[in-house]
Amino acid sequence: MTGERVLVDCDDVGRVYGSGSTTVVAVSGVSCQVLAGDRIAVVGRSGSGKSTLVHLMGGLETPSAGRVSWPALRMRRGRPDDVGVVFQGLSLLPALDVTENVALPLVLSGVSQEEATERAMVALAAVRLTAQARAVPEELSGGQSQRAAIARVLAAAPALVLADEPTGQLDHETARTVLDALLQTVDRIGAALVVSTHDPMIAERLQVQWEMRDGQLRAPAQTGAAGGRQ
Ligand SMILES: Nc1ncnc2c1ncn2[C@@H]1O[C@H](COP(=O)(O)OP(=O)(O)OP(=O)(O)O)[C@@H](O)[C@H]1O
Ligand SMILES: [Mg+2]
Repeated sequence: MTGERVLVDCDDVGRVYGSGSTTVVAVSGVSCQVLAGDRIAVVGRSGSGKSTLVHLMGGLETPSAGRVSWPALRMRRGRPDDVGVVFQGLSLLPALDVTENVALPLVLSGVSQEEATERAMVALAAVRLTAQARAVPEELSGGQSQRAAIARVLAAAPALVLADEPTGQLDHETARTVLDALLQTVDRIGAALVVSTHDPMIAERLQVQWEMRDGQLRAPAQTGAAGGRQ
């Protein structure tokens, strides 16, 4: 369709791990596009390739076959520079406090330390983490850690947000508040969102569901704006 910004274009993408008898085909023959404004849940059984696909979309993994491109994203050294990530557990750097973690992508992109800290504080207030601004990650609960990772996305305002099982270790109520913060954040910054999840509560709240099965992307469980683009 004309006029729609293609943020991620996966063209017959495959990813294989290992070699010989230990070869694992994690993703195979996947073609899909993520457009500006999309809200996509990637669902499927454990080991079906959800995380691998999300990592490929962010340029965090290299495809073994096919091609991933980012026509509408800012690029740096062949990788998309305009992507925020919220992953299960390991998103924050343990040696930095919460404010420094949130400010880091801004500082790395050339924003002054002072402005980055100011924007980090605003983002932390938006996810109700002002009281934890000077805590280090190990002092946070699981839900607080994920909200800090979401604040980092909010402060950096990327065009695409990738979340791999962002609520995987959380109880139902906490998962709901983290998802609320994530959805409010992508609405506020106008980003597209791709979330891999086991949790039907999360998948149902996104516009479209893409199902991974044995490394392949199946027809969407629900049709929506993105449903026809696989
Ligand atoms: N770094 C790796 N080295 C070897 N095999 C890997 C690696 N990463 C993933 N795999 C394998 O690729 C397949 C797909 O893994 P992936 O993590 O993408 O699945 P998933 O759908 O995210 O699973 P889960 O729901 O458990 O997170 C699995 O068989 C997995 O064991
Ligand atoms: Mg996974």
